[in-house]
Amino acid sequence: MQSDEIRSRFLKFFENNKRNKHKIIPSASLVPENDPSVLFNTAGMQPLVPYLLGEVHPAGKCLVNIQKCVRTQDIDEVGDNTHDTFFEMMGNWSLGDYFKEEAIKWSYEFLTSKDEGLGLDPKRLYVTVFEGDENAPKDTEAFGIWKKYISENHIYYMDAKTNWWSVGDNGPCGPDTEMFYDITADGLGDLTKEEYIKADSEQKVIEIWNDVFMEYEKRDGKVFGKLKQRNVDTGAGLERVAMAVQGKNNIFDTDLFGAVMEFIKNTAKNYDEKNARIAADHIRTSIFLISDGVLPSNKNQGYILRRLIRRAVLKINKLNLTSDFVKKSVEIFIEKYKNSYSNILQNDKMIFDVISTEENKFKKTLERGLKQFNNNIIETYLNGVLTDKTLRPDIVFSLYTSDGFPIELITEIAKENGLDVDLEVFKQDMEEHKKLSRTGATGMFKGGLAN
Ligand code: ALA
Repeated sequence: MQSDEIRSRFLKFFENNKRNKHKIIPSASLVPENDPSVLFNTAGMQPLVPYLLGEVHPAGKCLVNIQKCVRTQDIDEVGDNTHDTFFEMMGNWSLGDYFKEEAIKWSYEFLTSKDEGLGLDPKRLYVTVFEGDENAPKDTEAFGIWKKYISENHIYYMDAKTNWWSVGDNGPCGPDTEMFYDITADGLGDLTKEEYIKADSEQKVIEIWNDVFMEYEKRDGKVFGKLKQRNVDTGAGLERVAMAVQGKNNIFDTDLFGAVMEFIKNTAKNYDEKNARIAADHIRTSIFLISDGVLPSNKNQGYILRRLIRRAVLKINKLNLTSDFVKKSVEIFIEKYKNSYSNILQNDKMIFDVISTEENKFKKTLERGLKQFNNNIIETYLNGVLTDKTLRPDIVFSLYTSDGFPIELITEIAKENGLDVDLEVFKQDMEEHKKLSRTGATGMFKGGLAN
């Protein structure tokens, strides 16, 4: 089953639900409209916060949608089997309507029904429920509901670190129940809690859905009390669901990434799986950010986009891909997503122009800087001035100020060469530099940069 079919089955399942017909609502933009405190929407519930707190939603109390999300806090994880910076979150909501009984039943039915859902094997499902703490009791209700559908040896009580969901220090929150799918070839069967935790850490089971029972409110980081309505907020990552449905052990082998990964494999002169995954991920996220109006810049969303494109270019360089790679990969992704997101097709030329302009700009810096970098690294080694493999602070400083390398990039290239960067020393050097700039003592230095 391809991702287009998964999306459409999800929406239909809840739209046609006999007990509660859900209204399909469109994905909000990746850039939050009324919340300057966050750069991107990171979960389906984020644009719905006012309604979870009690405001009346014009489309009703039962909603379903697929929300575009960007989470850059996971950027260092990208390249493993399950993390990406952009993803689609399929979600159904009850705004003070149904609660645990129905939410769990429908999650189970959608995951396992062959006709209307995904037809996943119920024996490969594992779930966690909240074990209770000073804020809320042990969720024996969720446990009891799950027991109607799956064996008790697949259900585990877990603490608030994993089974309590909230975003930020203020807003709606509550205990959750998370669903995991066994992706091993032979199947793991019954697992003790310890065995399940180990299987999770080894990515033998992967989280595919989260049902949050949002009946509490957080204020200033503390759970304050109950909301005036009991809500359900669910989130199933399309990429991971596709991985489970398509029998893959990583998201990059699903149909969402498959064609671009294949293209990289066939054309890279220096293929490396992790670099290929990062390049594909960052190009895809850039496409979605640009289609939602973000342009490369030195602050906020634009800075994240710039970093993503630059990091992708670095990986493309390492992979030694042909010069038309960006063009080809953008085309392939647009083809894949055009039916679900019309603004991508409408902006295809602009998307390509923005990425390739940034790419070309950065390539020049990169060429100049890499030469400098390599000379410096050799010098660092030869002169034996390496203190526990830390790149010399003056080299870091000069790469940053004279060569225009972002600090993340310096750290990244250093890491690839087995070196560390002392960020504390870098910060101190920059403070010093700023002080000097303010007193005008670096006038000449500035002049030098302008050349
Ligand atoms: N808000 C929940 C999550 O993002 C569903 O996991």
